[in-house]
This record gives sequence, C-alpha cells and structure tokens, in this order.
Amino acid sequence: MGILAINGGDPVTQTKYPGVGSAAGRTIGKEELANLQEVVESGMLNRSGGKFVPAVERKFAEHLGMKYCASSTSGTAAIHVAVGAVNPDPGDEIITGSITDMGTVIPILAQNAIPVFADLRRDNMGLDATDVERRITERTKAIIPVHLAGNATDMDPIMALAEKHNLYVIEDCSQAYGTLYKGRHVGTIGHLGTFSLQQSKHITCGDGGLTVTNDDDLGDRLPLFANKGWPNYGSADRDYVMFGMNYRMTELQAAVVHAQIDKVDWVTTRRAEIGDRICAAVADYPGIQAPSITEGGRHTYWFLGLLVDQDIIGVSTTFLARALAREGAPVSAHYIGRPIFMYDLLKNKRIYGNSDFPFNLQPAGREVRYEQGETPRTEAILDDLLSVAVNENYTDEAVDGIIACFAKVFGNLDELRESYAAEQ
Ligand SMILES: Cc1ncc(COP(=O)(O)O)c(C=O)c1O
Repeated sequence: MGILAINGGDPVTQTKYPGVGSAAGRTIGKEELANLQEVVESGMLNRSGGKFVPAVERKFAEHLGMKYCASSTSGTAAIHVAVGAVNPDPGDEIITGSITDMGTVIPILAQNAIPVFADLRRDNMGLDATDVERRITERTKAIIPVHLAGNATDMDPIMALAEKHNLYVIEDCSQAYGTLYKGRHVGTIGHLGTFSLQQSKHITCGDGGLTVTNDDDLGDRLPLFANKGWPNYGSADRDYVMFGMNYRMTELQAAVVHAQIDKVDWVTTRRAEIGDRICAAVADYPGIQAPSITEGGRHTYWFLGLLVDQDIIGVSTTFLARALAREGAPVSAHYIGRPIFMYDLLKNKRIYGNSDFPFNLQPAGREVRYEQGETPRTEAILDDLLSVAVNENYTDEAVDGIIACFAKVFGNLDELRESYAAEQ
C-alpha cells in the first residue's frame, strides 16, 4: 500500500473536496438569482407587501406536511421563536443535549429559563431518554432534542417522557433537513421543529431560520414572537399583543430560500447516499463505530461522525484524523471539543451583568451543574469523534478517494502505531 503520507509517502488523493464556503460546495445558482432580481426590481425588500417570505413559509410547511411555518433570521432565532411561543416562566427549566451549537442554548437564557444538559447516546449522538428523565423536575417546561449531524434522535422515548410529564418538545433540526425517524421527517414529531439556513446547512440563504408546528395555538404565536407581537403587520391596524423580537426574514433572504427549498430533496438524498456508502466501506475496520440509524430512518449527513476506539486502533483520534487528512481525506477530530456547558458563557453562569440571574431562581440545593463529569458519555463521544465532511457535490470518484484514504491508513496500522508511539 505504500508509505503513509504522514511519513512522507504519496497522498492517496489530490481531490479538492468542495466545501460549504464556496459555490462549488453549494447549490446556489440561477434560480436564486432570478428570484433576487425580481425582489430588487419590485422595490419591496420587507415581508410586508412582499411575496417571497409568505411563499417560503407556505412552501416549507407543505414540504414537511405541517400546518404552520414561521420564518426568521437565523437558526438561533427559529429556536427563540419556538421557546417564545412556549412562553416559559422565568426559572423554568429546559433540557437539551450537551453537544450542540450555542444557538440552541441562547434562546433558553434569553427567555430567562435555565438550560439543563443531558447526556447523549453513543450510537446516534442523540438525547438519552433515561438521562433526560433523571433531570426532569417540577420546573421542567420543555425538551429540545438536537438531531446531531443529520441523524435522528430516538424520538419515541422522548415523546413518551413529554406526555408523562406534560412537556413541550422542540426539535432542533438545524443539521437535519431530510432526516427521517421511523419514516417521519424530524421536526414533525415534537410540538415544534426548527431549522437553520446558515451558510453551512443543507440549504442556505447565508443566515435564516424556519419554525414549524401543527398546533393551532403555537401556530398563532410563532409569527407574533418573530414580529414584536404585532398582528396584521403592514396594515394600518397597529396592535402589540405579546412579547416578541423583530426576527423578520427579508424578501432578499426569502428569494434565495424559495429556490433552495426546491433543491433540498436532491441535496439530502445525495448526502444520504454518499454518507451511507462511506459508512458501509469503513464500518468494519477495527475500532471504528459508524452511526446507528433506526429502522425506517434516514441520516442526511450534515457530517459523518465516526467513533474511534483509541485503545483498539492504538493511536489518538487526533492522530488518526491527521493521518487521514494527510492522505487527502476531508476529516477533522472532536467537533465542538467539550460539552457545550463547559464553554465560559455557561460555566461561569454570568449571563446578565454581574448577577446570578436566572440561576438564582432555582430552589436552594438544586443548582444546575455545568461541570466536567456531568455528562461522561458526551465527553467520551467528543474525545472519540472523527468527522468526515460530506457534501452533495462530491463526485463518485471523490467519494472513492475518501474510502481509499481509510483503506490505506487501516491497511498500515502497524506503521501508524509506530509513528504515533515515536511522537509521544
Ligand atoms: C444544532 C444547531 N442548533 C442551532 C444552531 C444555530 O443556528 P444559526 O447559526 O443559524 O443561528 C446551529 C447552527 O450552527 C446548530 O448546528
């Protein structure tokens, strides 16, 4: 197989893997441009009187078979709109996963609720319902499962807990367009589903968000929270009926999103194909655990997360990632590095000035803990996580290249281990 590239051998591939930071790795083209031209020529860039924002909301609701969709300015805003519609009392608790973007957590804090983090399952990196249940108190208002990397959280036990304890479920589908759980689209199973349109997501307008629900009451409240509580926006009939933000998507964003929604099925199908193919090729290498997909499910690979048994392979995840990357594969290690509550914002519990708010609303003796060791399985997942970047625009040959990089490194494990030992 030749000498490993980390030891000066020839890399397996020179392929330039398209990424989400340029046109080569995105699906933005003439359809988006034509819509944008129409908006610019209309002179109406705001949603009031515009046609694209309402059309996007209808189209995305239809795409998921949902009754209501409210657009907003980011995935964070989409979650804030959902939390705002749920309307927790200050000091209420909302349970979410310990690997996510801070955009899942900020809306909880912004509504003066307390984020509580549960441990994850190793097989699918979704919420572990047993650990969630352990953290439910009489103050718990909602659960936010994050469908991480494009794989579905096991929703049945989460929904059973929600029913038993009378909780809302807000599915964070920022990374999970097209993801299926037992044949159903994620985002349609809980009370609310939220999606991000940020640059790196399956579909994008740079930044934007979408929140969906089938619940009539929540469906009324979503657009109000996204628009300063203002019904009949754009008419002379001014009123403010509830607290809310100005998270209005513009016609410029919506022009792009409208065209992107037409492409989402193709993007997610192609990513599922590519990710499944890589998984099938690498899953049997020693010490590699591919994500488990529930029967009737579909993983749409915002990225492919492989878990590495470092004892079996005999090198660290970081070293393995480096060896694969030197062969030319688009891989990285450890994703967010530490549980989300171990970042300073949460660890220091200083959200508003120098106050302890909202944490000082918790009953004495029940302070939420943002400390190492709180979610041990999550820590192990992050330590072992090797991410393979997946993109819909990879050619079949490019995918072959990734598989060949794994084949070379795993075909030369003794050499890999020796190089690792020499470096220690
Ligand atoms: C799981 C998850 N939740 C929330 C967000 C927040 O989305 P946005 O960056 O669009 O605000 C992201 C985006 O990075 C995400 O990946």
